[in-house]
Amino acid sequence: MSSPRIALVTGANRGIGRAICAALIQQCTGPLILYTASRAGASVDLNGLSIPPAVQVRPAQLSLTDQASITALSTMIGSEHQGCDILINNAGLYYFQENITTAQRQETLDVNYRGTLNVCQAFLPIMRKGGRIVNVSSQSGQLKYFHPRLRAQFLKPDLTLDELDALVSEYTRLANQKAATASGWPPLTYFASKAAVNAATRILARENPHLLINCCCPGWVGTTLGAQAGPPPKSVEAGAKIPVRLAIGNIGRVSGRYWANDSVASAADGKVQEW
Ligand SMILES: NC(=O)c1ccc[n+]([C@@H]2O[C@H](COP(=O)([O-])OP(=O)(O)OC[C@H]3O[C@@H](n4cnc5c(N)ncnc54)[C@H](OP(=O)(O)O)[C@@H]3O)[C@@H](O)[C@H]2O)c1
Repeated sequence: MSSPRIALVTGANRGIGRAICAALIQQCTGPLILYTASRAGASVDLNGLSIPPAVQVRPAQLSLTDQASITALSTMIGSEHQGCDILINNAGLYYFQENITTAQRQETLDVNYRGTLNVCQAFLPIMRKGGRIVNVSSQSGQLKYFHPRLRAQFLKPDLTLDELDALVSEYTRLANQKAATASGWPPLTYFASKAAVNAATRILARENPHLLINCCCPGWVGTTLGAQAGPPPKSVEAGAKIPVRLAIGNIGRVSGRYWANDSVASAADGKVQEW
């Protein structure tokens, strides 16, 4: 019997993350050990889904703002399995208002951008050749919401992680002074955090050509997060489609790209888009 594929999904306890886990269990061919990470570290309720004998589902504790928990999980998976094949960074948060506190702004950047990047960096050393990383981003990170000067900075072909950090720091300083929108940034911190995720995805893909590293928008999906903006048109199952395709589906050798549907209401399985 072939050795099992090792997969980790963050934010697996609810919303799109839980639907991603259910789809992986149903669609993955061959043996699979799936780590379902959540802040509480509890078993994920998969709504009575029957688990095939070749699949093991294991709960894991992970908080994106706690580097020790990120390191501990990558160390555990590395020592138990000597590698990881699939990492889906799905966990995220959205304060759906312009006037958030400095602490809420910092939390948004720490979870969506810094936390996602920290998980990538902790797992990169144990990702097996041909492994896939999927960063669940958002159409909110599209550069059409940013001033052309910032667009050019995000899209610089040789942008480094240090330069990206500096850009995020510049945003934070301006936003804390209530001067970000006048400087060409979008009004909501969530947008800046997801643009940074997309840029980090491109950089990590460039630096790790042995892996397929992509990001995506799942669409507008009926979850706690998605329902803040009104009644979402998509189910969690439809929202899981693009992330699952990027993790186990046919995407050729595409890496470092942003995947989405033409409309956030579409339940298609995504295509490469400019962001
Ligand atoms: N829903 C949409 O319409 C939509 C659209 C575009 C993009 N997205 C993206 O899709 C992803 C999933 O969103 P969702 O709609 O499924 O949201 P959700 O139902 O609110 O779930 C968010 C998940 O992220 C986890 N999380 C939040 N902060 C965390 C932290 N500090 N450490 C670890 N886990 C943390 C939550 O865990 P707890 O239960 O412990 O809080 C939860 O599992 C997010 O990245 C979101 O930005 C969603």
